[in-house]
Amino acid sequence: MINDRIQEMINEQFHKELYSAHLYLAMSSYFLTQDLDGFAHFFRLQADEEMMHAMKQFDYLHEVDGQVTIGTIPAPETSFNSIIEVFELALEHEKLVTRSINSIVKAALDCSDFATHGFMQWFVQEQIEEESTLRTIIAKIKLADGNKSTLYLLNEELLQRQPEEE
Ligand SMILES: [Fe+2]
Ligand SMILES: [Fe+2]
Repeated sequence: MINDRIQEMINEQFHKELYSAHLYLAMSSYFLTQDLDGFAHFFRLQADEEMMHAMKQFDYLHEVDGQVTIGTIPAPETSFNSIIEVFELALEHEKLVTRSINSIVKAALDCSDFATHGFMQWFVQEQIEEESTLRTIIAKIKLADGNKSTLYLLNEELLQRQPEEE
């Protein structure tokens, strides 16, 4: 049986993953309105991944005989002004998520909940990848320095992104 505090933290994390999915859908939608289908595709896949993260936590809570409490999800930012602004916001958001995941890992260790500690390691690794992917794209956008044909090539590159293996 899972400890109440840890259960509450995973429930909060579940809602943060759903929020992330909504935020990335808003970003995907923004890029579609700008006719940047590759950037839109990237965030569409990000949103799908966030749903998958949420569902891993949903399933885990049930597996350990805990309870999922479905609450409200705040509306994400929906107005954006540039490609770089979107990616920088996404990176800032992922850094918050990383801190949140780390706090669950620490709380799990503090109360000797080794099952949750083990479960959360997948997310620790995932956050390294999420932050690194965004940083790489931000570097490429900065290198393009507003050059339309370079940004077009980046758009085409992101259009080739495949869904991640679970
Ligand atoms: Fe996530
Ligand atoms: Fe990922």
